[in-house]
Amino acid sequence: MELAKRLNRLPPYLFVEINQKIAELRAMGEEVISFAVGDPDLPTPSHIIECMCQAAQNPANHRYPETAGLPELRQAIAAWYEKRFGVTLNPSKEVLPLIGSKEGIGHMALCLIEPGDLALVPDPSYPPYFLGTILAGGEPYFMPLKEDNYFMPDFESVPGDVADKAKLMWLNYPNNPTGAIASLDFFEKAVHFAQQHDLVICHDAPYTEVAFNGYKPPSFMQIPGAKKRGVEFHSLSKTYHMTGWRIGMMVGNADIVNALFKVKSNLDSGVPQAIQYAAVEALRGSQEHITEHNASLQRRRDKLLKAIRKIGLKARTPEATFYIWAKIPKGYTSIDFTKKLLAEAGIAVTPGIGYGEEGEGYVRFSLTISDECLEQGINRLLDWHRRRG
Ligand SMILES: Cc1ncc(COP(=O)(O)O)c(C=O)c1O
Repeated sequence: MELAKRLNRLPPYLFVEINQKIAELRAMGEEVISFAVGDPDLPTPSHIIECMCQAAQNPANHRYPETAGLPELRQAIAAWYEKRFGVTLNPSKEVLPLIGSKEGIGHMALCLIEPGDLALVPDPSYPPYFLGTILAGGEPYFMPLKEDNYFMPDFESVPGDVADKAKLMWLNYPNNPTGAIASLDFFEKAVHFAQQHDLVICHDAPYTEVAFNGYKPPSFMQIPGAKKRGVEFHSLSKTYHMTGWRIGMMVGNADIVNALFKVKSNLDSGVPQAIQYAAVEALRGSQEHITEHNASLQRRRDKLLKAIRKIGLKARTPEATFYIWAKIPKGYTSIDFTKKLLAEAGIAVTPGIGYGEEGEGYVRFSLTISDECLEQGINRLLDWHRRRG
């Protein structure tokens, strides 16, 4: 048996590796506190689950769904964008439900990338941007996100011939893993750059609702001309604690929406309908839990930041996302540091190198663990630091 060569170009998916390591330690009876995965610790709000359970009782929802999703869901997504961002979307042409946004992100390159084509990908970034590019036979061109540039790409440093050759550019704000945020001004610059070089912008925005001190992150779709130039991926995962149900969406340019619909309708059969009804309830129902959850994340952020700084790591205070991107001491690689922390303190974090070469020298802490585990984790970190003198 000979597997396709393209598989050789894929690195092992980082989170699978980390989870394996944690599972091994737990199987040996060790109690690991994991700051490694960005998966909300609170359950999906009960009104959403009740709606899903009711929908699951209806035999009409036991059958194949449509790839395009229920019209009610597309309308609810459009209405949410209108209410939240003042962005008007045509629910039948500019909205496409996804089986979690990761699915759409992974398949996106199939719509735009021919073998050998370039895609501009931030470094560090969420791995499926470059992995999707590689699976489509393309080449990622990495745009470094430097701390002294607030983790924003510098469009001017992309060589003109590279930008001309590239077909698309991935962006992601609020940003995983750095926690950086973008202004509308930045999105305008991105659109201008994309117009100059005929690029499609794919903006990934699952964290717009995870923000602190009343800050409301903008949508890329708010920029005049954004719809001409690109699309935005969004998700119910982080906002409504629905990671396990797998539902997200892509909105924006009708031709791109239609292209991804074409790919998906040949590969999958859409989101199970009971989950689609739950998503309608999530988007249309009470949004109260969001404020409460953000307040609790903010408290966790402040406590953890204090501890992280006490043990000698440097980190900016993130204004959005549930991630703290911490600079580790010189002399360690991010993998060495992660291994050391796991072995000596029973704490799991994500090594920055997993998000790209520019992530080296950093580790990511996620705030999605219970308050109790957070306290325990903080005590372990401080104790570990004391023991090391
Ligand atoms: C930047 C980013 N985009 C997309 C996703 C995927 O979210 P979903 O659960 O909708 O697939 C994640 C999940 O961690 C993420 O961090």
